[in-house]
Amino acid sequence: MSAHPSRELLERLAGARRVVAFTGAGVSAESGVPTFRTTDGIWTKFKPEELASMEGFMRNPELVWEWYAARKRIMAEVRPNPAHEALARMQALVPHMAVITQNIDGLHHRAGSTLVYELHGSIERNYCMRCGRRHSNDEVLRQTGVPCCLGCGGTVRPDVVWFGEQLPEEEWNNAVHASGMADVFFSVGTSGVVYPAASIPFIALDAGAYIVEVNPEPTPLTEKVHEYLQGPAGSILPVIVHTLDSRKL
Ligand code: OAD
Repeated sequence: MSAHPSRELLERLAGARRVVAFTGAGVSAESGVPTFRTTDGIWTKFKPEELASMEGFMRNPELVWEWYAARKRIMAEVRPNPAHEALARMQALVPHMAVITQNIDGLHHRAGSTLVYELHGSIERNYCMRCGRRHSNDEVLRQTGVPCCLGCGGTVRPDVVWFGEQLPEEEWNNAVHASGMADVFFSVGTSGVVYPAASIPFIALDAGAYIVEVNPEPTPLTEKVHEYLQGPAGSILPVIVHTLDSRKL
């Protein structure tokens, strides 16, 4: 175990045709976005079934909207950190790069990653549960309480995946396809316990990718990976990208 990329990883990256980064809340931790299951994480203070499930929303939509409105305001303020930026820079150094994220914060896009599959939706989008009309954050945050559809008056919800809900089909299919094609696959900042997203690294592993995990703490994936880089993504990923970049000169 080390915090520094091995020579083998750098060589594999230099020769890779397809690279995938699969990310979780840890990649945004250094931007100030709270993680879920770490000490002090969101799910140590709040109940997921109350705030992130359809049953919880039906029971108390005001509470759920109060929480999402607060999260939307926090996430509008945060900025990509060196980990997001390194992944965005990596796409210029390899022929094909995809980011598969469980995060809803949009920070990979904002850092400049162009191919991003958002498995759990996006905090930046909302839709009417009756007619499907899309609503911007500005539109919903202008209303007080539970926002109503500007078209049909139905209830608007955040376009995020709640517990018990299906993942967006196209994003999921694209993520599975990209993982099966990857030569090098990074799993970054995820505890790897929420399925089906947590099966993504195993698809890449089974298909023969070189699997690298970046996380300060071991996870259920750690013993299966080819390389475990222990530490914060904002320190480790920039070193990988910098070294890869200087080798290409
Ligand atoms: P978790 O909170 O479960 O895990 C965060 C992971 O990030 C942990 O393994 C930490 O050790 C690691 N971590 C913390 N700081 C880090 C850093 N600076 N660099 C790298 N890693 C760091 O978050 P997720 O695995 O993303 O789902 O959680 C998966 C899903 O559970 C979320 O998408 C969300 C949640 O409930 C939904 O809302 C549907």
